[in-house]
Amino acid sequence: MYTMNWKILVLSMMATLLVANATKSEVEAFYNETANLPCDFKNPQNFSQEELVIFWQGARDDVLYELYRGREKQIHVHANYINRTKFNQTTWILHLLNVQITDQGKCTCFVQHLGPKGLVIIHQLSFQLSVLAPFSQPEITRLDNKTAEIGEILNFSCSSKQGYPKPEKIYWIVETTNSTQYPGEIHLSQDDTNQLYYVTTALSLPITESTIWINITCFLKTQGPVELLTSETLQIKMKPHEELDSNFVIPGVIVVLVLTVVLLIILRVLPLKKCSHLCDKREATRVKTEDTDHPKERDEALESLSYQMCEKRGDR
Ligand SMILES: *[C@@H]1O[C@H](CO)[C@@H](O)[C@H](O)[C@H]1NC(C)=O
Ligand SMILES: *[C@@H]1O[C@H](CO)[C@@H](O)[C@H](O)[C@H]1NC(C)=O
Ligand SMILES: *[C@@H]1O[C@H](CO)[C@@H](O)[C@H](O)[C@H]1NC(C)=O
Ligand SMILES: *[C@@H]1O[C@H](CO)[C@@H](O)[C@H](O)[C@H]1NC(C)=O
Ligand SMILES: *[C@@H]1O[C@H](CO)[C@@H](O)[C@H](O)[C@H]1NC(C)=O
Ligand SMILES: *[C@@H]1O[C@H](CO)[C@@H](O)[C@H](O)[C@H]1NC(C)=O
Ligand SMILES: *[C@@H]1O[C@H](CO)[C@@H](O)[C@H](O)[C@H]1NC(C)=O
Repeated sequence: MYTMNWKILVLSMMATLLVANATKSEVEAFYNETANLPCDFKNPQNFSQEELVIFWQGARDDVLYELYRGREKQIHVHANYINRTKFNQTTWILHLLNVQITDQGKCTCFVQHLGPKGLVIIHQLSFQLSVLAPFSQPEITRLDNKTAEIGEILNFSCSSKQGYPKPEKIYWIVETTNSTQYPGEIHLSQDDTNQLYYVTTALSLPITESTIWINITCFLKTQGPVELLTSETLQIKMKPHEELDSNFVIPGVIVVLVLTVVLLIILRVLPLKKCSHLCDKREATRVKTEDTDHPKERDEALESLSYQMCEKRGDR
């Protein structure tokens, strides 16, 4: 939706640009859209179409279109422009469809009159055709999985694609307690098939202060009518550091100490209790063994154990 609004804005800006630039000898068009190539021929002598030859020449003197005595003639038209043009006989504007970056350059409209002495140029208009491709909205990517905490360095990249011409500037704004701008180094790559640019930049951000949020936005300044493109803001929640850590450490130490003390007490008390219990049991076992004819091995084993423990108890 954002991109759509953008495009409408761009198109309306382009409409005003076209009117203004027709006199400035520059025509701008959007990549893969239609360029309106003017001729500005008023035909003051009211020649009939039968007497005229009209044609447009583009970059490298390639013929874009020819109207020969009222009929379209393809024989001189360069292969790149076959079926890509529409001539409006009312406005004398040549519509060039699906404009490519390679269409850029000096372009001239010629009008020739077929007189008794042959073809004579009676009008010509030259202008510069330039092509713009709006870069995509810049996108931020994280290059690592580190947690945001003091002492860490976080790496990001920001990239935007399918633009033309080269962008002017790329930069970051990082908001912590204050807002800081970091310039970005432009790294360009160009698509061989359509000549459009892909731009990327990297940011290494050392975390030096403790905040709750780190908000990072990337900006791309282009040469086209939409001058500043803005990425979505990346919000990174910081891992709580020192303040909270100390709150955890002190109670933590206390808990560990208390547990240790409790454990020590249990270790000291348990054998005592167990021993007194066993000693009591020893008495009972003795009575029991006397009363029954059960095998005595187990009882004796138990008895000797009880003795040892009770002797130990006596030692303490
Ligand atoms: C160019 O426009 C045509 C429609 O006119 C569309 O089908 C095509 O995908 C576009 N190409 C690019 C590279 O945008
Ligand atoms: C131009 O010529 C046509 C006939 O070829 C004629 O009908 C028309 O009125 C002329 N216009 C002017 C402005 O002379
Ligand atoms: C030529 O341009 C006029 C004015 O913009 C428009 O009304 C007309 O429909 C166009 N004709 C063609 C064939 O595109
Ligand atoms: C980040 O972690 C995810 C899953 O935990 C993994 O798939 C991804 O490759 C990691 N990225 C980097 C840059 O280490
Ligand atoms: C982060 O960026 C720094 C400096 O550009 C680089 O030395 C480091 O290797 C990068 N680390 C990761 C994980 O990309
Ligand atoms: C960062 O974004 C969060 C979430 O929208 C917001 O609450 C916070 O105020 C922002 N922080 C800064 C420093 O802009
Ligand atoms: C934020 O900016 C103010 C005023 O410019 C400055 O006094 C303060 O030290 C800055 N804080 C940080 C954490 O950089």
